[in-house]
Amino acid sequence: MCGIVGYLGNEKALNILLNGLSALEYRGYDSAGVSIKTDNNIHTVKTKGKIVDLMSSIIESKTDLNGTIGIGHTRWATHGSPTTNNAHPHFTDRVSIVHNGIIENYRELEELLKSNNITKKTDTDTEVIALLIDMFLKEKSPKDAFLSAIELLKGSYAIAAIFKDEDTIMLAKNESPLVIGLKENATYIASDISALIEYTDRFIFLEDKDIAFITKNSIEILDKNQEKVERKPKTVAWSKESAQKGGFKHFMIKEIAEESEAVRNTIQSRIDEKGNIYIDEEIGIDKQFLKNIDKITIVACGTSYYAGLVAKPILEQYTGVFVNVEIGSEFRYSSPIFSNNNLFIAISQSGETADTKESLRFAKEKGLKTLSIVNVKESAIARMADGCIYTLAGPEISVASTKAFVSQLAVLYMLAFYLGKIKGKNTKNQITELLKIPSKMQETFENSNKTVKDLAKKYHQYNNFLYLGRGLMHPIALEGALKLKEISYIHAEGYPAGEMKHGPIALIDENTPTVLVTPNIEPFYSKTISNAEEIKARNGKIIMLSDKDTAVADDMIKISAIDYEFTPFLYVIPLQLFAYYIALYLGHDIDQPRNLAKSVTVE
Ligand code: M6R
Repeated sequence: MCGIVGYLGNEKALNILLNGLSALEYRGYDSAGVSIKTDNNIHTVKTKGKIVDLMSSIIESKTDLNGTIGIGHTRWATHGSPTTNNAHPHFTDRVSIVHNGIIENYRELEELLKSNNITKKTDTDTEVIALLIDMFLKEKSPKDAFLSAIELLKGSYAIAAIFKDEDTIMLAKNESPLVIGLKENATYIASDISALIEYTDRFIFLEDKDIAFITKNSIEILDKNQEKVERKPKTVAWSKESAQKGGFKHFMIKEIAEESEAVRNTIQSRIDEKGNIYIDEEIGIDKQFLKNIDKITIVACGTSYYAGLVAKPILEQYTGVFVNVEIGSEFRYSSPIFSNNNLFIAISQSGETADTKESLRFAKEKGLKTLSIVNVKESAIARMADGCIYTLAGPEISVASTKAFVSQLAVLYMLAFYLGKIKGKNTKNQITELLKIPSKMQETFENSNKTVKDLAKKYHQYNNFLYLGRGLMHPIALEGALKLKEISYIHAEGYPAGEMKHGPIALIDENTPTVLVTPNIEPFYSKTISNAEEIKARNGKIIMLSDKDTAVADDMIKISAIDYEFTPFLYVIPLQLFAYYIALYLGHDIDQPRNLAKSVTVE
């Protein structure tokens, strides 16, 4: 949460910072600001609101922001409401800083500052960092003042600081991401590479407790022991276009339209026509160990958790071992029972989600073999696990996750077939079927788009929805309900259809439509049709997703028939579209829904 950027080079920093902030806006968008060093001064403009509001404030303020060294921030408020005063950068006469994370001991540090007659002017935890550096600057060089301040911090942080009297940017990282982009005569800083792909494909990924000093001619990095360390640059080739809207009105609809390609990219490079899957190296875990695994624990949050739920029966079917799927924020504080032959899998689009990351750390501490399924290259979760299978979905910008979800499914299905093969199962037919999925997804997108848009028009004024499904369609119903909540702010409950009679049926009336997700596959179909009759008997409206028409539905979204195990890839698409078009009719900010941020890096 929160996005930070920085630039030091020969060009004017302002536009580079604003571009970077726009690209990072999905990380937080309640306030924003920049600080730029000009000659021997630091000038700061900040405001409540989005980057466009910051641009207006910059024009109105007529501040001199012509320097070539600067930092910027887009905020998702944790401590202190989203006001201009609480917006970053936080600064004194001598130093200005931006921060992503939470300083857990900020109250203690406030007391330390007070005992030195220094008082805060904002409600944030972050301001203490600027004030501490400033306090130490009275006696120490900027470098030492920075080091002394960082030493006092407890919590998570990615910090960038600029100084009135130094042509340098200083960085500190712990648990929040921070990447340095390299180009001849210029150094870029950002929370993640999406802000920098326009400028470079060479990046240094800082590690926890790293500190970096950047000048025009040098980058010096100190590790957790404050010893000089070399962090090798890595090349990440994400295309510039993939992070642009490319003619679409929103990233979300662009990303739904890209789903078939995302799945194709994810599987094609790893599967051959003969049904072989090449993920040994990425998994990075001995095959003999994989043959003997006796339990798999999957941990994730939000949409990634639902991908885990979809994969559970598939993995169980092919590996023959029990698969336990847990929510990160619950798992990390639980007392799970592990054995030596357990495999732990963390799923995360961003690779940064705090609860998933900490669960992974916990599993590693318990000595488990760990695997991650991640979209963002070189992110913390990708690097922490013994192996990582990347989803090759490209940058996902919209806060509502879509193409990452289906790509996670693709990896999980590949993994199930791969492990199945190791355990002696013949999975050739399934692999051949998986290869056909991208074109079927594209067909589903094209065939359902118009119908779903019309239905969204018809239903967008309802305030409550129920989403029901059985078997593999249960997590798909949960995901459909989550999408609707996130971007339309309409209350939606996802439930296993069979549970309806145990409570949710009390919600049914003419004002609570039900989205019933049911391929024509027994035993699920008949049972779900019975649920539909029960809903009708209580005057409930029914939107049915199925490959079979039925008179009990008020409205149908027809999906082509497909093998049961692959239905999740197709059925989720109209649900994502439904949420998208409802939010569109309601006039919401679809890519940046209120209160949310794309990467939840705090607990
Ligand atoms: O980056 P992650 O996959 O770890 O994120 C997990 C959730 O925060 C995320 O899926 C969230 O639920 C999305 N906004 C859903 O659309």
